[in-house]
Amino acid sequence: MGAGTGSYEPDDRDVIAIEPSEVMIAQRPADAAPAIKATAEALPLEDKSVDAALAVLTLQHWDDVERGLGEMVRVAQRRVVLVTMDIAVLAQLWLIRDYVPETLPAHAAGFPSIKRLLGALPGATASQMPVPRDCTDGFMAAFWGRPEAYLDPHIRSGTSPWHQLPPAVVTRALGELQDDLERGEWDRRYGHLRQQSTLDVGLRLIRAEVQ
Ligand SMILES: C[S@@+](CC[C@H](N)C(=O)[O-])C[C@H]1O[C@@H](n2cnc3c(N)ncnc32)[C@H](O)[C@@H]1O
Repeated sequence: MGAGTGSYEPDDRDVIAIEPSEVMIAQRPADAAPAIKATAEALPLEDKSVDAALAVLTLQHWDDVERGLGEMVRVAQRRVVLVTMDIAVLAQLWLIRDYVPETLPAHAAGFPSIKRLLGALPGATASQMPVPRDCTDGFMAAFWGRPEAYLDPHIRSGTSPWHQLPPAVVTRALGELQDDLERGEWDRRYGHLRQQSTLDVGLRLIRAEVQ
């Protein structure tokens, strides 16, 4: 659900991609799974017609989260899996707390709380997805132990929150980060992260077995 360009679709399973945006569908690789143009809230699939339903970092865009989750439960025979962000944890990350707290109202407010998701999926469990320091996905929090990366416009260009923030906020935040790095202030506060192998930035895996 909300398959986008197909980045996280398993290639060892038969996949039906559900994606409402023609722009995203057009960017899917030629060998990606076939996509159906639809929203999670109205899945054009029969009851119990797939083994599992998977939604990765898309819930924050849905108009009606409970309805979409109900649809996932309806079509899945065995399992519903979500990957989402716990914003309360993300808010504590140095990048957000010290430099771009504006990210929270501008971008993160759309993420449903983990409590709400667990309430909508009886029997579901939530677990942390710690992010490695050398994570190759360029999502905003991925460079938690590589602060210089945020100063690189090419790295920022692939990450939507940087585009959603007002340019003046980005300029101010990056100026402060650059200054703190040059003065050694960032390393005094957070230098230990350069040696840490993983960090919980708020990514959560939610899994529900369904009947
Ligand atoms: C941040 S992208 C994530 C794409 C992909 N899951 C990934 O992780 O690479 C969010 C996707 O959700 C889609 N989306 C927006 N509203 C949706 C809805 N109501 N139902 C399903 N998908 C939706 C967007 O078009 C977009 O492709």
